[in-house]
Formats: sequence, structure tokens, C-alpha cells
Amino acid sequence: MQVMQVMQVTQVTQVTQVTLVTPGRRGGAFLWSSHFMTQSASAVPTHLAMIMDGNGRWAEQRGRPRWMGHVAGAHTVRRVVEYAARAGVDQLTLYAFSSDNWNRPVVEVSTLLELFDTHLRTQTAKLAAQGIRLQVIGRRDRLPLALRGAINAAEARTAAGRRMTLRVAIDYSSRAAILASLPAASAVRGGSAGETLLPPVDLLVRTGGERRLSDFLLWECAYAELAFLDVLWPDLRVGDLDALFADYAARERRFGAIPHQASA
Ligand code: FPP
Repeated sequence: MQVMQVMQVTQVTQVTQVTLVTPGRRGGAFLWSSHFMTQSASAVPTHLAMIMDGNGRWAEQRGRPRWMGHVAGAHTVRRVVEYAARAGVDQLTLYAFSSDNWNRPVVEVSTLLELFDTHLRTQTAKLAAQGIRLQVIGRRDRLPLALRGAINAAEARTAAGRRMTLRVAIDYSSRAAILASLPAASAVRGGSAGETLLPPVDLLVRTGGERRLSDFLLWECAYAELAFLDVLWPDLRVGDLDALFADYAARERRFGAIPHQASA
């Protein structure tokens, strides 16, 4: 039987480990070491970040109010979380509400905030049972008090989860996070809770057909692989995720070096 394999290279201190694995799944079938080769992609992104775009258009296409698109989008969130945890993703970061989203109509903003509140309250037990740790990033001081309480409770209840970290960005601005991380800015502003830099992103996915980052994880995406999908977020299905992960597994990540540097 012929088994397709991709090369997985992981930097371990000064030695580079090269592993052959079946595409789309973590775990090495074969392993050797080289002092010379450069870091490349793992078959599964360690840190997957997603810009969940297209909810409003999904609703408008059906003649429904925009908020119904967000409700449908929440179902996709559940599908994606389940998929990522099963695939072996270590960290999943979702862009749920940018600091610029406050400029949307009041009804849409309040629906979104209520949706976050409801989902935090109804999904937390399931996340804890699945070993998924929830973290919320972004400013909290502008969120309703009840939502802040729900966030704190969900984070505390899932804190022991080791299988995957699910990070949800709410009232998040990457530029604000970068500024807050600078010692001088922190000293002046006293820092800002929730605005910290995160581990590097391996794969950044945006649905909805737009090709921009919209102030999401600008620093962390320095060497991220980018994938822009035309599918609207509520329409994203397991087949799309399979295709995304297969595409990612086939990419060569060089981090500024050249391929096969040893022989150069
Ligand atoms: C962007 O689509 C989407 C958002 C601003 C909200 C994302 C929120 C969810 C998916 C809801 C549930 C989330 C959680 C974490 C429970 P858009 O409204 O800008 O779409 P458009 O470009 O078609 O107008």
C-alpha cells in the first residue's frame, strides 16, 4: 500500500528533527535529526487562527436580519472547535469581535454580545469535559458586566484543560495589543488586561472572500501561512476544513531560509 507522506520539521533546541507523517494528522512514522535543515510545517497547524467573516452576507442572502447570520455562525464555531480538537490543533484563536465592530448598528452589537454570553454559559461544561481551555483576549472594560462575569467563570472552569486552548478575541485590536506589550507604553498606560502577544500563528484562515487581516494578530502572523476562502463562515463545513488542513500540510515553511540549506 502506498502511503502519501509529507515532511515535518520541528526545531528542537539546536537540533532539527525531521518527521515523515501522513498528511493532515500529527504523529511521526519516521524520525531523524539534522543540524542543517530549516524549520518547516508540521502536518497540523499548532496554532490555527480564524477570521470568521461572512455572517451578515449569509443572512442577507436569505432575506434575514444580519444577526441571524451570527446565530448561524455560532453553529460553525462549534463544528470548528470539535474538528480542531480532534485533528490535534494545540491552539485555536477565533476573531469574534474587533474593537472596530463597536461601530456597527446597536442591535447587531447587542445581539453579538448576547450570543457570546449565551454560548459561554451553555458551552463551558462541554469544553471542560473535552479538556479544552477557554481564554478570552481583548479589552474587557467596555463589555457588559454580566458578560465579563461569564468570561471569568468560563475561564476558571476550563483552566485545567490541556487538550487544546480555544482563544476567543472580543473587543480585540492587534495594534492595541502590540502597543500594550511595549514596556514604555505599558508603564504609561498601566498595561491593559487581556492585551498580550500570543504564540506565533501557523495558519491564518479568513472566510467570506475578503483578503485582509483587519487588525487581527498582526505580530503573531509574521510567518503564518495564509488561506482565504470564498465560503461564508456559516457555510463552512468539515470538507472545507479537510481541504484546508491538506493544503497546509503540503506547504513548505522556510522562515526566511532556503530549502535544503545543508546542500547549498
Ligand atoms: C464577521 O462577519 C463576523 C463577526 C463580526 C462576528 C463573529 C461571531 C460569530 C461567528 C458568532 C458566535 C461566536 C462565538 C465565539 C460564540 P460579518 O458580519 O462582518 O459578515 P459580512 O462581511 O458578511 O457582513
